[in-house]
Amino acid sequence: MHDMNEDVEKKLITEEELDRAVTDIAARIDADYDDSGRKLLLLGILKGSVVFMGDLMKKIRRPVEIDFMKVSSYTGTLTRGRVDILLDLRRGDLHNLDIIVVEDIVDSGNTLSYLVNYLKLKGANSVRCATMLDKPSRRKVPFTPDYVGIEIPDYFVVGYGLDYDEKYRTLPYVGVLKPEIYSTR
Ligand code: IMP
Ligand code: MG
Repeated sequence: MHDMNEDVEKKLITEEELDRAVTDIAARIDADYDDSGRKLLLLGILKGSVVFMGDLMKKIRRPVEIDFMKVSSYTGTLTRGRVDILLDLRRGDLHNLDIIVVEDIVDSGNTLSYLVNYLKLKGANSVRCATMLDKPSRRKVPFTPDYVGIEIPDYFVVGYGLDYDEKYRTLPYVGVLKPEIYSTR
């Protein structure tokens, strides 16, 4: 059996650190959204957000609904400037909805600045963003997420939902791969 851990050069964030960061974000969300009468929707962006989404939803005490969208992003380690919606949010009651877009990582900022704008134009009452990881040094468009788990330097990371070439999403921690893994594909 191939052990994915052997492809990791260094662990950047441990499971315990991730867990603490999620607990913190959940508490902030509970404090920020009081009983407005509106629905709160956690909107996960497939596929990278699924691990964070699963952990986060269990720690939020107030009632929330969940949904998912899928957008195009990376091919390999190169970012593209445009955003395609591959799976849209199909519901009619957006004016009665406070949305928190749940992402794995904010990098260039392209995906989230586009999506937040898109959801506001569709009529959502409010749109915020929660991301597990943030790489602010990589921004190409101005974007500031409302809830950030952990800020990281400019590394290409995997694990906790994040992939390289669709692999390593299931690692329970966040790590950097050995250079030969990135270059031999
Ligand atoms: P952005 O639109 O450039 O902010 O890119 C966001 C998307 O790029 C994320 O949802 C990830 O899928 C992907 N991405 C950015 N940085 C990394 C990384 O270090 N590892 C894995 N995926 C990444
Ligand atoms: Mg992604």
